[in-house]
Amino acid sequence: MEMTKEIRIGMVGYKFMGKAHSHAYRDLPFFFNEAPIPVLTAIAGRDEAGVAAAARQFGFASFETDWRKLIERDDIDVIDIVTPNNTHAEIAIAAAKAGKHVICEKPLAMTVEQALAMRDAVQAAGVRGLICHNYRFAPAIQYAKQLIAEGRLGRIYHVRAQYLQDWIMDPQFPLVWRLRKDVTGSGALGDIAAHIVDLARFLVGEITELTGTLETFIKTRPLGEMSGGLSATRDANATGEVDVDDAAAFLAHFANGALGVFEATRFAGGNRNGNRIEVSGEKGSIRWDLENMNNLQVYLHEDEPGLQGFRTINCTEEQHPFASAYWPAGHIIGYEHTFINLFATYFQSLVDGTPCQPDFDDGVQNQRVLAAVEASSQTGRWVDVTSIG
Ligand SMILES: NC(=O)c1ccc[n+]([C@@H]2O[C@H](COP(=O)([O-])OP(=O)(O)OC[C@H]3O[C@@H](n4cnc5c(N)ncnc54)[C@H](O)[C@@H]3O)[C@@H](O)[C@H]2O)c1
Repeated sequence: MEMTKEIRIGMVGYKFMGKAHSHAYRDLPFFFNEAPIPVLTAIAGRDEAGVAAAARQFGFASFETDWRKLIERDDIDVIDIVTPNNTHAEIAIAAAKAGKHVICEKPLAMTVEQALAMRDAVQAAGVRGLICHNYRFAPAIQYAKQLIAEGRLGRIYHVRAQYLQDWIMDPQFPLVWRLRKDVTGSGALGDIAAHIVDLARFLVGEITELTGTLETFIKTRPLGEMSGGLSATRDANATGEVDVDDAAAFLAHFANGALGVFEATRFAGGNRNGNRIEVSGEKGSIRWDLENMNNLQVYLHEDEPGLQGFRTINCTEEQHPFASAYWPAGHIIGYEHTFINLFATYFQSLVDGTPCQPDFDDGVQNQRVLAAVEASSQTGRWVDVTSIG
């Protein structure tokens, strides 16, 4: 497909991520003057009144009540999938077959088999897939990647990653789609461990082997639905069984010899969105926390004895990736800008015909790690990630 400097978007789904993506599309041209311009062409949802209201609020020119109609349209270049996980594979494969590029939210799929089919579909169609691991695109994480790639930390020994939330701790919080295996695939594992797996893969490399465990603390909940963001409404009269994990933990070996410790839970009271990673190498360490996302903490062993310690770098200087697109130094950015950086990079790659990661290969690798944690949790053994799928 011939790409122009305008990229026409068709989006499926319109709640939490629908809003985050739409906002990023609208803001992108304000900050990236030279980048291709996303055109909010159409949005799809099943409920006509709901999708019409979303089109108005988010700024889409039109709407469809069936995603298949969206995919058939010839005025759309990219299909953006912001629906629950059990819909990703079918929509992505159909979109690729129709010659559309595909943006897909994480986790890529329900299983490794589905993820591979999605990867194969975009490859066969000659279109490009993007998986929305937006946290890679925080300037502090991009800067950490540069430091590691330059060898400033030396050989990497440790990765310590945690994704800690607490939004389902109330036993009366309902059994929303994120807690139903048939819709979500897995619980905290696919929802938030997937993000720290991506950060670790981005910064340190492939995970080769792991052993892990999953836990479900609250096994029965009232039925209910997501109502936007991470809020929900409850139907107090009926209950259902929780069949996904509330928490996941695993140890991992990396191909480069590093050792990883990962924890993902929605039961860490007081941690609203604690996405944290620390990497320790022979010459230094970095650590980052999403809730303080502009800052990167860096320790360099070469510092003068007595002055050694973690320094806090506010990654808003012109030397820091993506920072120049925004405000003067010290004028911080937020969660939503990670999506703007991700999409600006992807759209430029579509126009230039250059690779852009994280792509569907990254989605497949991530899914292999998630599957390995599930397998290890069942058998109690170490699992060779490279042999999965
Ligand atoms: N990158 C991130 O940080 C991040 C954050 C949250 C969610 N996500 C991912 O984004 C995706 C969507 O999550 P969300 O939080 O926006 O969910 P949500 O519940 O807020 O919104 C889901 C949307 O999909 C629609 N939908 C549901 N089933 C559908 C179907 N069969 N056909 C068409 N539309 C359907 C719903 O009506 C709603 O508009 C999930 O894959 C999730 O894992 C990613």
